[in-house]
Amino acid sequence: MKERIALITGATSGIGKAAAMSLAKQGFVVIIHGRSEEKTQRVGDEIRMATGNNKIDTVVANLFLLGEVRKMAATLKQKYDRLDVLINNAGGVMNKKRETTVEGLETTLAVNLLAPFLLTGLLLDLLKKSPDGRVINVSSNSHKLNAKPNFGDLQLENGYDPLRAYGNAKLFLIWVTQRLAGMLKKYGISNVTVNTLHPGAVATNFGVDSNLGGFLNLASKLARPFFKTTEQGADTLVFLASSNEVKGISGRYFVNRRQATVADKYFTTENENLIWAYCEKQTGISVSDLIVGS
Ligand SMILES: NC(=O)c1ccc[n+]([C@@H]2O[C@H](COP(=O)([O-])OP(=O)(O)OC[C@H]3O[C@@H](n4cnc5c(N)ncnc54)[C@H](OP(=O)(O)O)[C@@H]3O)[C@@H](O)[C@H]2O)c1
Repeated sequence: MKERIALITGATSGIGKAAAMSLAKQGFVVIIHGRSEEKTQRVGDEIRMATGNNKIDTVVANLFLLGEVRKMAATLKQKYDRLDVLINNAGGVMNKKRETTVEGLETTLAVNLLAPFLLTGLLLDLLKKSPDGRVINVSSNSHKLNAKPNFGDLQLENGYDPLRAYGNAKLFLIWVTQRLAGMLKKYGISNVTVNTLHPGAVATNFGVDSNLGGFLNLASKLARPFFKTTEQGADTLVFLASSNEVKGISGRYFVNRRQATVADKYFTTENENLIWAYCEKQTGISVSDLIVGS
């Protein structure tokens, strides 16, 4: 069998870096994505040194910006003719004060939802060329705890709160993943699966710089010693990327390697349609065209 090729976004720290290390140890060709050239190169070198795997590539893009997602996808498509695993891991909770990108998008929604939506769409043709293509979207239990969508104000111009924005984005990421799984099935693409997961509460840089406010800053500091290590946090990602047990399983949400239930409080087909249409409009892609395309 050919070497499996995996792309991991946000592989410069935390869960993504631990997953990259683990897949490199298993002999995968690993493409490390980061937003800083210097840091990404450094992590690439560290993984080569630690694992003895020299098939470590790097790619740089700021995933707040859809323009950079497009460039990143184009670069990868020039270099590779197949992709076996795409782990959309980059993301996190943003600051107490709402911020928008130069493209006019609220930052939490941009990096946690729109960037993975676009990257997956643009790389679908490479994934379709894999005998066992897997897309793994890192969501969060926060979709249960913190989501409170306003479907008329998806970018929370009013009522922004960092955890609310984060919970919403991770909820919508689950919805679009489930929808994509259904579409792939409908079009007879059985060699590409898409799933989401919650990694657990993991001691990473997650939220460390976010200044969520006095109480939450203190609570997360106090709880940190009880969090999972990054290796433990990466376990379900690595499992979904490499285990035969999940081959062919699609549209599911995993916690601790097991399928888990998704909060249904805000789910209606109408809401899901609205989020899907919103993602297609913001990113300028038609996923069904990309599924059907060569
Ligand atoms: N830690 C937890 O308890 C927890 C729980 C549930 C879900 N998650 C999810 O797990 C995923 C990984 O987070 P983590 O805990 O490992 O946090 P982390 O240590 O902060 O790692 C986040 C990664 O994403 C990258 N990233 C963030 N914003 C980016 C941007 N605009 N463009 C490009 N890359 C960007 C970071 O790059 P830099 O290295 O340059 O900062 C880093 O590599 C996230 O999706 C997070 O929401 C984490």
